[in-house]
Amino acid sequence: MIMQSACKEIKTSVFVRVIRTLLFVGLLLSLVSCGDPVTNHKILSTLFDGVPSLPPPGQICEDYYEARRAAELGEVSAVELADAQAGKGKKSQHRPYVEKKCNDCHDINNKATQGFIVPKQELCGVCHEDFAGQHVHGPVAVGDCLACHLPHSSTHTSLLIESPGDICQTCHAERRLAANMHERFVVSAITCNQCHDPHAGDARYFLK
Ligand code: HEC
Ligand code: HEC
Ligand code: HEC
Ligand code: HEC
Ligand code: HEC
Repeated sequence: MIMQSACKEIKTSVFVRVIRTLLFVGLLLSLVSCGDPVTNHKILSTLFDGVPSLPPPGQICEDYYEARRAAELGEVSAVELADAQAGKGKKSQHRPYVEKKCNDCHDINNKATQGFIVPKQELCGVCHEDFAGQHVHGPVAVGDCLACHLPHSSTHTSLLIESPGDICQTCHAERRLAANMHERFVVSAITCNQCHDPHAGDARYFLK
């Protein structure tokens, strides 16, 4: 009996030690895989012999930040880009995106503008003229182009987030003043932008 329980204890402590070792190795691997190259090298060369010496510091930094830039800018878009170039399911694509002029809009090191070349509300205006008119549509007036448009590509025309037939109702669900007139259009499937300009105009309600 005594022998058996001692044996069990030994077995348990071996088991615990194996688990601890595994946890330690796991921790180590996670440190090495997500740390920067200098820390990784320090950990590895402390534990093992024969770890090759580091390349010059300048190159490490460059490689490291290149990899990070690629990860931040590239990873999502690798799939997106492949789709975009195949034109898969896309009804519209933004020309600077297709031409891979990512840095015409993105500047990932610019923290002040959240990674864009200028603040997001001013970005579209860098290349597109302001929509002028005596009346300017609410979201357009505050530079919120992304309320209706996607920056890269879309399954709808004109980079829209919704089909032209549905996009206005995402915000305008309230009953129209000219309700009778408007309800008739919904039935006959005339879209809002056949009468209203989505951006601005000199006529009231940006009527065309
Ligand atoms: C016309 C300007 C413009 C161009 C060109 C552009 N982007 Fe963007 N990108 C944006 C904007 C604006 C957002 C933010 C969208 C939002 O907040 O809804 C964005 C978001 C992103 C994001 C964040 C994830 C996502 O998809 O929302 C990634 C990654 C990205 N862009 C990568 C790229 C890459 C890679 C390229 C070049 C192939 C590129 N972009 C070209 C304007 C642009
Ligand atoms: C770096 C310049 C640049 C910036 C910044 C830019 N665009 Fe464009 N955009 C273009 C070019 C070039 C075209 C293509 C024009 C053409 O074909 O005549 C275009 C076309 C478009 C189109 C028409 C697409 C179509 O399929 O008809 C929309 C919509 C558009 N941009 C929206 C935006 C929005 C929204 C933003 C801000 C997130 C933006 N653009 C920022 C250069 C830019
Ligand atoms: C309320 C939704 C909405 C907002 C906000 C909006 N757009 Fe549009 N935009 C549209 C719709 C709808 C179309 C398609 C018009 C059509 O096909 O008649 C369009 C078309 C476009 C086009 C291509 C055709 C054209 O009229 O030149 C460009 C470029 C464009 N938008 C840029 C912008 C920019 C830049 C902003 C921000 C200043 C913006 N849009 C804000 C709804 C919107
Ligand atoms: C992202 C939300 C949003 C979308 C999408 C949107 N609008 Fe608007 N719209 C607004 C806001 C905000 C106002 C300003 C509200 C106000 O002044 O009372 C406005 C005002 C208007 C007005 C003027 C109303 C008035 O009483 O002066 C018209 C007309 C209008 N929108 C038409 C449209 C059409 C047509 C579309 C589709 C192309 C559309 N809107 C899509 C947010 C939106
Ligand atoms: C056949 C043309 C036509 C179509 C299509 C149309 N409208 Fe209008 N809309 C008008 C006219 C004309 C007025 C001005 C009515 C008035 O002066 O009383 C108006 C007024 C408005 C107004 C401001 C007054 C109000 O009722 O709040 C909004 C917002 C509006 N429309 C949104 C929309 C939306 C959203 C759609 C798509 C579902 C749409 N319109 C489709 C012609 C149209």
